[in-house]
Amino acid sequence: MGTVVLVGAQWGDEGKGKVTDFLAARADIVVRYQGGNNAGHTVVVGEEEFRLHLLPSGILHPEKTCVIGNGVVVDPAVLVGEIESLKRRGIKMARLLISERAHLIFPYHRLLDGAEEKRKGNGRIGTTGRGIGPAYVDKMARVGIRMSDLLEDATFSRRLEENVTFKNALLERVYDAEGVSLPEIFDAYREYAAILREYVADTGVFLHQAITAGKNVLFEGAQGTLLDIDHGTYPFVTSSSPTAGGACLGAGIGPRVIDRVLGIAKAYTTRVGGGPFPTELKDELGEKIRDQGREFGTTTGRARRCGWFDAVIARYAARVNGLDYLCVTKLDVLTGIPVLKICRAYRYQGKEITDFPASTSVLEACEPVYEELPGWEEDITGARRLEDLPENTRRYLERLSSLAGLPVALIGVGPRREQTIVCHDAFAC
Ligand code: GDP
Ligand code: IMO
Ligand code: MG
Repeated sequence: MGTVVLVGAQWGDEGKGKVTDFLAARADIVVRYQGGNNAGHTVVVGEEEFRLHLLPSGILHPEKTCVIGNGVVVDPAVLVGEIESLKRRGIKMARLLISERAHLIFPYHRLLDGAEEKRKGNGRIGTTGRGIGPAYVDKMARVGIRMSDLLEDATFSRRLEENVTFKNALLERVYDAEGVSLPEIFDAYREYAAILREYVADTGVFLHQAITAGKNVLFEGAQGTLLDIDHGTYPFVTSSSPTAGGACLGAGIGPRVIDRVLGIAKAYTTRVGGGPFPTELKDELGEKIRDQGREFGTTTGRARRCGWFDAVIARYAARVNGLDYLCVTKLDVLTGIPVLKICRAYRYQGKEITDFPASTSVLEACEPVYEELPGWEEDITGARRLEDLPENTRRYLERLSSLAGLPVALIGVGPRREQTIVCHDAFAC
């Protein structure tokens, strides 16, 4: 398998968790490299459903190692809760390592996230409210607190006090909100430190040694290309780098050790939160896709906005991530729709454009240019080979692949592990 980076090619929720869990069988190590518990990755194994927010989606394979890289922002309350919930369910977890360089999320980050959204009013981003943005702000402002600080009592106490003093002033005087209690946070975080200490390590050294020894490593992106702080639909983005380059920064590896990059895309498109979405369906068909695809957020339960597959986005994702293959998920959800549309270009001020625009107002003014293809009625959830799919399903896939300019490696025809069709051995590195 070598080293494979798996990224979301749309606005998140593409089914990265399921694909990571599926591919983890062939990996030795699964690494999360950015984001935090804004992510919600649903993995279905047998009759059981697991909703993971911080633990990498390889965690259900007990013989593997999972790594939370330095680029992740860790809310220790959520992480401890997730570990304990798996233990309570009797799940034997993969070995877990957490980077000592990973930054922490504190209660004041969550409060600031909410206060800032409230201040923005109608212009709000629609964040998950998990404190992700403010935690990355602190990291960049060089006032963040890292996992290694949490394990050193004196350093932790000093840095926490500095932060709480300033954040309380900000909350109370600028946002007219209530501040937080320093002793309460200190005590709670001391308890998290006691639980998490055994997992904290220099994961950069671990990954370097593993890659040098020829281990198979899967880097699991959270969110998606269009939520990337640089390449996404700014400002309606998250505060990290979900694109493939983020794997280098967020895991501490060099770009030359990456063998393959896989883009995960739904057979249609969804988005949660605010921001432009050219192929959005605001009608009954959008609702039908939402119902059939159970498109409600894993983290916040919000209804996801649904629309047609957008090949302009797929080509953009191919370029900024250097994708080798596309994995097309949730193809089964399109069953029973008589005519399917794929957006091949945008029309802007009377001209066709094929490059994804940077400006929000330009994107909002873009009209999708569609191709139409006939749908299919057959149930495809039992298909396990490409040949098992109806002719119209294969034609849809072929067109999607050709417009995206990428070969398709995997196809998802249902949420379970085994509901996966492997078309290309993208992992024979
Ligand atoms: P992620 O954030 O990219 O991991 O995606 P989510 O887990 O938030 O959302 C994807 C949802 O679709 C989850 O509920 C999955 O169980 C489900 N899912 C994944 N792949 C498929 C598929 O091929 N078909 C169907 N019907 N559901 C899928
Ligand atoms: P997974 O990993 C879909 C969206 C939020 C909001 C914007 C910023 O499950 O694909 P944030 O809380 O990150 O500051 O919110 O990003 N968002 C996601 N949308 N899937 C996700 O993760 C997301 N994580 C954040 O809805 O629009
Ligand atoms: Mg999700």
